[in-house]
Amino acid sequence: MKVKDLESLFVHEVKDLYGAEKQLVKALAKMAKASTDDDLRKAFEDHCIETEKQVQRLDRIFQELGESSRGAKCPAIEGMIQEANELLGEHMEPHVLDTALICAAQRVEHYEIAAYGCTRALAQQLGKDDLAEELQRTLDEEKKANEKLSQIALSHVNQEAMAASQGGRNE
Ligand SMILES: [Fe+2]
Ligand SMILES: [Fe+2]
Repeated sequence: MKVKDLESLFVHEVKDLYGAEKQLVKALAKMAKASTDDDLRKAFEDHCIETEKQVQRLDRIFQELGESSRGAKCPAIEGMIQEANELLGEHMEPHVLDTALICAAQRVEHYEIAAYGCTRALAQQLGKDDLAEELQRTLDEEKKANEKLSQIALSHVNQEAMAASQGGRNE
């Protein structure tokens, strides 16, 4: 699609988000399965369900805009998921893997926070206040998901990864 003005840039951004969320539904399910920590698995499972709803929210935005989601893709998220998959193939100590999954997931959440923030601002600029509100709803969910991951890492997962790593060295 051609981006020529603010309106078409907005549609481009929404498509980018759609491409990202579609890939993330699958990636989050995979990350939940790979997690060994119960809190982390639950956080991934919850955000996976939330992400399915975010896809539906974007579907409604396409309807409002009279645009199709066809051809929506996000190479940036594709790259981040590829990096996460490479980590999953490393056969690392399970606690360390949990920490690695959090690192990968927080990269994604920060990308989404930036992308939803920009797209919401474009919606506001274009006078699409109802769409801006919808985008804000998802933005708030992404921020919460990111905070949850920080909390899980700092409350116990990073410490357990450290203990497991030290244990490994002493064996
Ligand atoms: Fe999302
Ligand atoms: Fe997210």
